[in-house]
Amino acid sequence: MTEKTEIMQLGAKVLRQQALAVDDFASEEFQRLIDSLHAAMLESNGVGIAAPQLGVSRRIVIVASRPTARYPHAPDMAPLIMVNPRYEVLDATLVKDWEGCLSVPGIRALVSRCRAVEVEYQDIRGKASKILLKDFPARVFQHEYDHLQGMVYLDRVESNRDIISETEFFKQIAA
Ligand code: NI
Repeated sequence: MTEKTEIMQLGAKVLRQQALAVDDFASEEFQRLIDSLHAAMLESNGVGIAAPQLGVSRRIVIVASRPTARYPHAPDMAPLIMVNPRYEVLDATLVKDWEGCLSVPGIRALVSRCRAVEVEYQDIRGKASKILLKDFPARVFQHEYDHLQGMVYLDRVESNRDIISETEFFKQIAA
C-alpha cells in the first residue's frame, strides 16, 4: 500500500476542478484517503487540508487549528474531518487576515473571510453533523471549502500588495 502524500501545487488541474461528493463511506479507498489527508496535513504543519490537494477530487476537508511553526498563534482544536460540507454564513462581518496554503508554498496573503459560519457535514461514517465555527477555524474552513470549488485563496486577494513572501511574514510576526 503506497501512501499518497504528495501535495498538489498551484497549476495542477485538480486544484481548479469542482470536487465530487463522497457516497461510499465504507470503501477501503475512502478510509485510506482520510488517513493520507491527516498524515499529509501533520507532516506539512498545516492547519487544514482538502482532498484535491492530494490529487483526489472529492468533497473532504480537515480543519485542525493548532499552533504550528506555520501558524504560531492558532487556537488548539481536535481535527475535524468534514465530508460533503455545506455552510451558511452566521456572521458576515469580513475580517482580513493572513493565509497561506500548502499548494501555494513560499507566500502569504491577506484575505477577507466571514467571521462565523455554520457547517453541515457528514463524519467519516456518513453520519450527518453540524458545527458552528468562528474566527480562525471559520477562516480555515472557508479556505478549505474553496479548494472543493476549484478556488485557491489567491483568487480572493484584493490587491497584489497584500501578497508577501513567507520569509518576510515570519520576520513580521516575530517582530
Ligand atoms: Ni489551501
